[in-house]
Amino acid sequence: MSILVTGGAGYIGSHMVLALLEKRFEVVVLDNLSNGSAVSLERVAELTGRDATFIEGDIRDRELLDALFQRHAISDVLHFAGLKAVGESVEQPLRYFDNNVGGAVTLCQAMQSAGVRRLVFSSSATVYGEAEVVPYHEGLPLGVPTNPYGRSKLMVEEMLRDLGRADCRWSIALLRYFNPAGAHPSGRIGEDPQGIPNNLVPFITQVAVGRREALSVFGNDYPTPDGTGVRDYIHVMDLVEGHLAAMQAIAERPGISVWNLGTGRGYSVLDMVHAFEKAAGCTIPCHVGPRRSGDLAQYWADATKAERELGWRARRGLEAMMADAWRWQVSNPAGYAS
Ligand code: NAD
Ligand code: UD1
Repeated sequence: MSILVTGGAGYIGSHMVLALLEKRFEVVVLDNLSNGSAVSLERVAELTGRDATFIEGDIRDRELLDALFQRHAISDVLHFAGLKAVGESVEQPLRYFDNNVGGAVTLCQAMQSAGVRRLVFSSSATVYGEAEVVPYHEGLPLGVPTNPYGRSKLMVEEMLRDLGRADCRWSIALLRYFNPAGAHPSGRIGEDPQGIPNNLVPFITQVAVGRREALSVFGNDYPTPDGTGVRDYIHVMDLVEGHLAAMQAIAERPGISVWNLGTGRGYSVLDMVHAFEKAAGCTIPCHVGPRRSGDLAQYWADATKAERELGWRARRGLEAMMADAWRWQVSNPAGYAS
């Protein structure tokens, strides 16, 4: 049996493929390369000494999916494929709903007709909206995400919950990621954002490597210890290990399961800058700019449910996260195009 990884040529997906190959799973990757790179999979093959089967194609292509499920005996689907740029989703909502929601519907239809009913979905802490209590735990009511990207995640969660209610043979994990960061410790695969990075860690590493002049800190007047936003940054290798644990758990757990994947600790923007400076031995020029619209002051995960039910917890700290992010960036200053 094989594992299908949609979006497996992207940032998190490529680390997932690596972890699966290392665990001796057979892996099929489906990715349309809209934001991923086939080079990441070549490097994964180099690192593991094993190959995933790569199919370049779109999760909205039903014919392609039917052929894929016919050709490969798939036991589980890890569904990473999606668009994820918040600002872009505000400008192009139809594209986001078509890709993220339409794509998930088509994927599930194809799974249903192939009789494959184990699915792990990449959700996000964004589904909690602007919950006022921190840390966020899975029992909180779903919130109102502030942008179409976030709403697309919420809609897919709702759709999957309905699917699980309608047919109890489905086993579905909704994994709510907090802030994934870092890279594989080899420095061979990592995050390669197109254009100006939206997220903090890739922005910092691009400043360090000379691709950007300075980091703009989005507000220092939040009600947090140093006034800058606080988030729960999770090492991408911890995140993919959380998927392995979830995949194993749902094999014996039909229905819908929800787990936060975070560390349970919050760090401010300035904490992150200082941690990076320490790991990389350089100074990051920063200036304080205005708040970014839609940003929340602070949140982090209550990560105890995943620990209790999956026996999984994030093990890597900020130091490893920053050292690994830096190793990736410095050896690939222009990402996979280097
Ligand atoms: P990414 O953009 O690096 O990877 C997504 C991959 O999906 C890309 O390789 C892209 O080419 C592919 N893809 C997009 N649409 C597709 C389609 N219609 N058909 C086939 N392939 C398609 O993003 P990532 O950071 O690796 O995120 C993976 C998943 O995790 C996404 O669903 C994202 O929304 C979710 N997520 C990410 C974060 C984060 O901070 N990175 C946080 C929460 C949730
Ligand atoms: C953002 C998205 C969220 C998505 C998450 C993970 C928004 C409003 N939210 O969340 O939907 O799920 O990424 O992909 O875009 N910061 C700076 N300067 C920068 C970049 C960021 O100060 O150049 C600050 C932010 O204000 C925030 C923190 O760093 O306090 C983390 O930002 P980011 O990495 O973008 O993640 P989120 O804001 O948590």
